[in-house]
Amino acid sequence: MAVSVRQLGQWKGQGRAIAAVTAWDWLWARLVDRAGADVILVGDSLGMVALGHRTTLPLTLDDMVHHGAAVVRGVENALVVVDLPFLSYQESPAQALRSAGRILKETGAAAVKLEGGYPEMAETVARLVRAGIPVMGHVGLTPQAVHQVGYRQQGTTPEAGEKIYQEAIALAAAGAFAVVLEHVPTELAARVTGAIAVPTIGIGAGAACDGQVLVTADLLGLTDQVPPFAKRYESLGDRAIAAVGQYVEEVRSRQFPSP
Ligand code: KIV
Repeated sequence: MAVSVRQLGQWKGQGRAIAAVTAWDWLWARLVDRAGADVILVGDSLGMVALGHRTTLPLTLDDMVHHGAAVVRGVENALVVVDLPFLSYQESPAQALRSAGRILKETGAAAVKLEGGYPEMAETVARLVRAGIPVMGHVGLTPQAVHQVGYRQQGTTPEAGEKIYQEAIALAAAGAFAVVLEHVPTELAARVTGAIAVPTIGIGAGAACDGQVLVTADLLGLTDQVPPFAKRYESLGDRAIAAVGQYVEEVRSRQFPSP
């Protein structure tokens, strides 16, 4: 049976850790779903890892719908969550409702994720949840604010940590079914995880979170630059280059195809 947002909450209660990864198309979605991922996030990191942008900012709602639908077609078991791209929800709860509604209707995904937790965003989450749209929050390092915050660890001073803590509390109170904590100190993530009833999904936030998420291209070694907190489980990029290089050589030397 497919993973549901309710199931994630139950897993938090049982201490069962949640394994989330990203995917950006049908091919990768099939693979990570078959690998047993609980949650597949169509993160806007696809702007960098699949489309060659330098940041997540250029992505449009049409891009996310296009990629989200492809991912959903490849998934049988995991919960699919699609990122709301930059400026598709920040204007007003009404704009967020239109954008999130398009994602659910046109991709078949079960939920959306949005960044930020300041009071306006909690209001937006509440609006989406009232309309029946499950929302995953995302605080700490929020890449859509890269020009303000960079890719540095967030929440490193007591004041900044307290702000992130309050943002996570506000998102959970507004009805978010889970909150991503990105690149924040371990102690802060542990404090948030203990304080909210819904699961925290960490990325560079330590082992106390209820689950973890990594960008699949980073964990497989398909990207040149990996964030300091990511773990590379494979060097698929190098292996793909070697395999395709061997094919190229064999074509040129007329070893392939065989007679
Ligand atoms: O866009 C993304 O892939 C994300 C994860 C890194 C959490 O938001």
